[in-house]
Amino acid sequence: MSNTKAKLTVLISGSGSNLQALIDACGKAALPNAEIIRVVSNKKASFGLERAQKAQIPTAYHNLLEYKKRFPDTTESKKFEQARSEYDRDLASLVLADTPDIVVCAGWMHILAPTFLEPLKDAGVPVINLHPALPGQFNGAHAIDDAYKAFQEGKIEKTGIMIHYVILEVDMGEPIVTRDIPMRKGESQDDLEQRIHENEWELIVQGTKKAIDTLWKSRQSS
Ligand code: GAR
Repeated sequence: MSNTKAKLTVLISGSGSNLQALIDACGKAALPNAEIIRVVSNKKASFGLERAQKAQIPTAYHNLLEYKKRFPDTTESKKFEQARSEYDRDLASLVLADTPDIVVCAGWMHILAPTFLEPLKDAGVPVINLHPALPGQFNGAHAIDDAYKAFQEGKIEKTGIMIHYVILEVDMGEPIVTRDIPMRKGESQDDLEQRIHENEWELIVQGTKKAIDTLWKSRQSS
C-alpha cells in the first residue's frame, strides 16, 4: 500500500502558493508517492488554476453564483442555505468522480457543508485544511489580521499555522501538524503575512504527508 501513489484533490480559491508547494513536493522526498489528480477552484480568476494547468494537472471551476441564481429563496438568518447545500452536494460528486484518496483544502475560502463532508466520509476520503492560526486561536477567514491586531493590543506573543482534519465546525477539526510563529515587535502586517506563508509552504507538505501515512495505516489495519 505505501508504494501506491496517493491521489490528491486540491481545493483552492486564490493565488495557490500552497498548491505550488504541493506540486513542487509531489514525488520528491518530502511527499513521495503522491500525485495531484485535480485542482478545483471556487473562483474563476484564481492564479492557482494557472499554476495547475502549467503543471498539466486537470482543473475545474465550481461556481457558487450559478447556484445562488438557481436557488434564490433565502431568509436573512439562512442566507443561500439551499444554494450552498446543492453547491456542496455537486462539489462532492465532482471530487468523488476522480476517486481521490484525500482532499486538501489549500486556501479554500468556502465553508464546507454536510452535503460535501458526509459523502466524502462515506467514501473514506479524509478532508484536510490549512489554517493560518493555532488550534482554537483565530478561527475564520481573517486569522492573520486578527493575530496581528491581538499582538498590537498585547494579547498574544505568538500565532501559528495548522493542518487539521475538516469537520463541520469551522477550523475546529483534529490538528495533524501545527507550527508556532512568534510575533516580532515592529514587524509590519505584510512582513508577518509573508513569514506565515513561507512557513505554510513547508507545513502543508508535512501535514499532507502525515495524513497520507495515517490513511495507509488505517487501511492496512481494516
Ligand atoms: C493561506 O494563507 C491560507 O492559510 C489561508 O489562505 C491563504 C491561501 O494562500 N487560508 C485560510 O485562511 C483558511 N481559513 P494561497 O492561495 O497562496 O495558497
